[in-house]
Amino acid sequence: MARPEKLIFICVNERAPGHKESCGGGHDSAAIGQAFKQCLKKRGLNHHIRASMTTCLGPCIGGPHAVVMPDNVWYSGFGLDDVEEILTSHLVGGKPVERLLAPNPEKTDV
Ligand code: FES
Repeated sequence: MARPEKLIFICVNERAPGHKESCGGGHDSAAIGQAFKQCLKKRGLNHHIRASMTTCLGPCIGGPHAVVMPDNVWYSGFGLDDVEEILTSHLVGGKPVERLLAPNPEKTDV
């Protein structure tokens, strides 16, 4: 099997209920990950673009979080309704969805 051209890793890390630093639970991250997988398969793209659910990616607060590789483009605070746009615009079209990008930690004081 050929290596995929792009990968999107979606954090589905679960912490204790009510914990604010978690991508799981109330953020629907597992459903989002499944939606990416289903959309890619439905379009016949799942061999070129892979969606993978993963544990903590690091930023935690303001999730869910995802990163597209090899682009090193990070998304945060998105939802199920944004899956098609990220897939079409970025994963297929190569244009990141600006309004959903995670803040660049090198450009902030956090
Ligand atoms: S819990 Fe998702 S990035 Fe840390």
